[in-house]
Amino acid sequence: MKKKLLGALLSVAMVASLLAGCSGSAPAADDANATQAEAPVSDSAEAEAPAPAADGSKIGISMPTQSLERWNRDGAYLDEQFRAAGYETVLTYSDNDAGKQVNDIQNMLADGVNLLVVAAIDGEALNTVMDEAAEAGVPVIAYDRLIMNDAVSYYVSFDNYTVGTLQGQFVVDQLDLDNAGDKVYNIEFTAGDPADNNAGYFYQGAVDVLQPYIDAGTLNVVSGQTDFDSVATAQWSTDTALERAQNILSSYYADGTQLDVWVCSNDSTALGVAQAITSDYAGSNTVLITGQDGDEANLKNVVDGIQTMTVYKNVSNESIVTLALAQAMLNGEEIGESLIPSFGIDCAFDTESYETSAGHKCPSFLLVPSVITKDNLQELVDTGLYTMDDDGYLHAVQ
Ligand code: BGC
Repeated sequence: MKKKLLGALLSVAMVASLLAGCSGSAPAADDANATQAEAPVSDSAEAEAPAPAADGSKIGISMPTQSLERWNRDGAYLDEQFRAAGYETVLTYSDNDAGKQVNDIQNMLADGVNLLVVAAIDGEALNTVMDEAAEAGVPVIAYDRLIMNDAVSYYVSFDNYTVGTLQGQFVVDQLDLDNAGDKVYNIEFTAGDPADNNAGYFYQGAVDVLQPYIDAGTLNVVSGQTDFDSVATAQWSTDTALERAQNILSSYYADGTQLDVWVCSNDSTALGVAQAITSDYAGSNTVLITGQDGDEANLKNVVDGIQTMTVYKNVSNESIVTLALAQAMLNGEEIGESLIPSFGIDCAFDTESYETSAGHKCPSFLLVPSVITKDNLQELVDTGLYTMDDDGYLHAVQ
């Protein structure tokens, strides 16, 4: 008990400097209005005795939803990693409801967590609760999606802009656009949730690669829908992406116009677009469809030739980097590029790219995404995180 109290006091002292994270000073707290949310998915405090190395520290892990495949993996990996390192954990999923996520985090603070790992549903909606975390001396790692509040200490993600450039470059290479001559390829876009700070990075990365070909007339956006708001998909919903794709197909392609490419920012939206093409597209050519994540249903579509590629992000590695960073933070170590060798994972320390709403740069550890097609599925099996069945379909291990 004494050790736990000492640990808590030390943690409070150590995190004081960390709270400066994205800004120069911790913002004032708002009304701390902790409410009771439903029981967390996992509270390992009772499940396992923490190893002494972690000083009894408790980690709050707040994930957005279980309805999108990857977050189940992220939650499970993070929970597993932190527990294996001797921490207690509280893991919640907030059903894509930003208000519920605030409540869930407030409950974690009331529960005495020493550090928060948060994948935000809405990067702008956590201001009050982030201020409350700062007031309580609890440092925050923005996980995968940047939280736009200055109280966030660090950001761990993949290089989101590169995810988009990989999709764009894949289209360029696959269609050999540099040697297209007079040929014109028809293309459409589907982007992600405007509330998710990542969505703009993915889309911009793809557009930056493809815009010169659109300007040259080699790529033609038949619907004319290219601004982010027109192509965005609230909550990354498969059904919303499906519906918009059906509308576009009936409005612009029902006359037999050939569709060549549909750039989708991620797998949940690619699933909806692929479904619309399967059911509503009049043409018989294969439409090149991009994605991101390596969700099981999409990998099946890749094997079946319905989706052409996905940008893979190894979220197990993302959780390993998050754990190592959290340990360094709680141990009062210096945080920066020098930590990277201890991660054993390829990533960059970036202090320029990610800004909070107030314009402060959030120090970020960014992992490296890669392209997966039906030709290199074995790479996923080699991670140990997927198995391949006799029909060549992949299944996530966790
Ligand atoms: C993640 C993507 C994911 C999307 C929807 C983004 O923030 O970076 O990997 O596909 O959310 O879940």
